[in-house]
Amino acid sequence: MKNIVILISGRGSNFVSIAQAAQRENWLADGVRIAAVLSNRPGAAGLERAREMGIDSIVVDHKLYATREEFEEAMIAAIDPLKPDVIVLAGFMRVLTARFVDHYAGRILNIHPALLPLFKGLDTHERAIAAGVRVHGCTVHYVSTELDGGAIIGQAVVPVLPGDDPDRLAHRGLKLEHVLYPRCVRAAALGKVRLEGGRVKMDDETAASLVVMSNEI
Ligand code: GAR
Repeated sequence: MKNIVILISGRGSNFVSIAQAAQRENWLADGVRIAAVLSNRPGAAGLERAREMGIDSIVVDHKLYATREEFEEAMIAAIDPLKPDVIVLAGFMRVLTARFVDHYAGRILNIHPALLPLFKGLDTHERAIAAGVRVHGCTVHYVSTELDGGAIIGQAVVPVLPGDDPDRLAHRGLKLEHVLYPRCVRAAALGKVRLEGGRVKMDDETAASLVVMSNEI
């Protein structure tokens, strides 16, 4: 069995989209399961959704640890027994140190709300509008020690429209996140996407399925 562990900090809509895809597409039949969802915030709305969906949840409250290192050791202690094959950051808003990233090297995926390598960091929608770009979107990538800098797995593209404000653009982008991320997670769990020597390996068919355009949905 391939084990997926999903890390969240808040709303958890990407976690829910992955969990719904796993049910709808019967990932279990392919030997892929969501082993647990872990939140660094006890009040994260996504935890309630996990309970409703019958998915195990774990809280590792970062506020209970004096240092980032101690917090990460506690997360590793909670995650390792689950034997994770893929760790999915889904709106997980804590920066991870090299200790955590190296411990799960080539197994951690993140979704970032911009077309990387543009607009790393925060406030991506606001910055895209300010820059006057005509397309925006989201990127799923392997996590490296460089913030939002790991090898790219898949991207989804939305237009930036004249009437957009950051919220409207974010809403349009989020709908595509919910299409793109489950596809990337499934492909990674099945070994159809791999990280080798710092580069992403996949066949043409998989690569084509991991580019999503807004007119597809
Ligand atoms: C998503 O839009 C995701 O791209 C973004 O946070 C949101 C989480 O929503 N992630 C980042 O900004 C990472 N730097 P969700 O909790 O509903 O999945």
